Amino acid sequence: MLHRYDTVIVGAGLAGMRAALEAKKGGSCCILTKVFPTRSHSGAAQGGIAAALGNAGEDDWTLHMFDTVKGSDYLADQDAVEILVREAPGTIIELEHMGVPFSRTPDGRIAQREFGGHLRQRACYAADLTGHVLLHTLYEQCLKEAVTFYPEYHVLSLVIAEGACRGVVALEILTGELHTFLARAVVFATGGYGRAFKITSNAHANSGDGLSILYRAGLPLEDMEFVQFHPTGFYPSGILVTEGARGEGAYIINGQGERFMKRYAPDRMELAPRDVTSRAIQTEIDQGRGINGGAYVHLDLRHLGPDKIMKSLPQILDLAMRFTGVDALKEPIPIQPTAHYSMGGIPTDNNGRVLLNHAGAVAQGLYACGECACVSVHGANRLGCNSLLDAVVFGTRAGRAVLADLPAIPRGDAPPDSEDAVRKELRLLLDREGNESLAAIRDDLQTGMQKNCGIFRSDSLLRAQLAAIGTLRGRFERVRLHDRGARFNTELMELIELRSLLDFTELIVRGALLRTESRGAHSRTDHPTRDDARWLTHSFARHTPEGPVCDYAPVRITRYEPKERKY
Ligand code: FUM
Repeated sequence: MLHRYDTVIVGAGLAGMRAALEAKKGGSCCILTKVFPTRSHSGAAQGGIAAALGNAGEDDWTLHMFDTVKGSDYLADQDAVEILVREAPGTIIELEHMGVPFSRTPDGRIAQREFGGHLRQRACYAADLTGHVLLHTLYEQCLKEAVTFYPEYHVLSLVIAEGACRGVVALEILTGELHTFLARAVVFATGGYGRAFKITSNAHANSGDGLSILYRAGLPLEDMEFVQFHPTGFYPSGILVTEGARGEGAYIINGQGERFMKRYAPDRMELAPRDVTSRAIQTEIDQGRGINGGAYVHLDLRHLGPDKIMKSLPQILDLAMRFTGVDALKEPIPIQPTAHYSMGGIPTDNNGRVLLNHAGAVAQGLYACGECACVSVHGANRLGCNSLLDAVVFGTRAGRAVLADLPAIPRGDAPPDSEDAVRKELRLLLDREGNESLAAIRDDLQTGMQKNCGIFRSDSLLRAQLAAIGTLRGRFERVRLHDRGARFNTELMELIELRSLLDFTELIVRGALLRTESRGAHSRTDHPTRDDARWLTHSFARHTPEGPVCDYAPVRITRYEPKERKY
């Protein structure tokens, strides 16, 4: 079935919906999403969105910029960071005017709490439901502006004509029918890929499909080796416990009853950046100082008192009871680091235009924003509450770039065979004979990534994981599906998602193997120091018939020269 729009957006999280609100000003616009829009993973963000509003003490964009650049271990492109932080205050006010119910100070201003790595109190929040309220507000705005939604449509490939992106082919999950969406502009806002790891805060849908589609189409992916582990996931599920809990004053305690962060980040303690805090927790666990020697430590809220906890962290209270059986008013919460965020992704310029190469050439008709994109404002380690900001700021900019470019982009026709290759590929997946289980392969991949390419990495672990991915690819070819039908075939969806996971985990591991230094979230036990002389560079991985190849491009430094990073 053929559909025509001026702009097609893939993904209904904050970035996609904010881009849609701009693109809609230039013509028809639809959003395709493989889940219902308000189930998008932006809704799981809890603790805040950063902006130097100065409502809780002196602050300005230069301080926010410095914290972000230092937090990134100097790998972020500083011109992009400057855009992010300068546009942050206006973005918050705009969101407030759209109807976001931010928490308030007693005198009525937007309340701001502390967050890791930010030396000022600049996280604007709505209790611990910040992503949830932002997502619902933007959804309402999109409905008001008559953006069309196609929920439970799984995008599988690009439509390319005369060297430009002219749309996408999607599978309607309910019926199993293929649909071609022709467009003058296509925006990818497909989120992250935490599901590559066994312990993750990410939703099941976060399997990096967008990255895989572009990679398979020959586009590069940037800085894939940088994966963030959030320090506090519930044990054992990995579900997020917001950093806002530590922003409100919670302690992290090991099995010896010690606030051990004093040994790792004496100035910032529990409010050190995520890479530092996750490594500290993992070290305590690995050295036997977890609770009862186990694979978790405690997050203690009790001294905050019931009033503050119930007012500022109501969701955490609820989740702690549901997922660990702990009443956080009376007992500490068992926590562990959890795979949370992908710093790398689809390279874009500062306006969301997808880059064909690191020399700056752009792909015609193709845009990306949000977690699937790499602008790069987070470098080697993102600061908490900068991701919601990135999604909204660069979602807006991508939408405005579409608006600016649309007049010069002609309406095209669908190539007659646009769905053929996808139909053939699906048939092959459905008809395959073999004795391999999809769930077992996925589990082996996630467990291996956790063990070999997690918080601490080394040459031997990474080589073992690369070999394992090769073996898993072979097993993938022998997966036999139990459901071979067309309608609501969730097993087929999972197989397609597993193919994506196999694609980009190879890039994560290869990138990590090549990068013989430690920087931000990439920590090599065999190369424990940062090496600016050799590695102050972004990596770009590209698909070739012989396997992925990687090349490198310099970081853009405008204000802050790299220094030793201490907290
Ligand atoms: O801890 C949190 O609330 C997560 C926020 C973020 O990832 O920015």
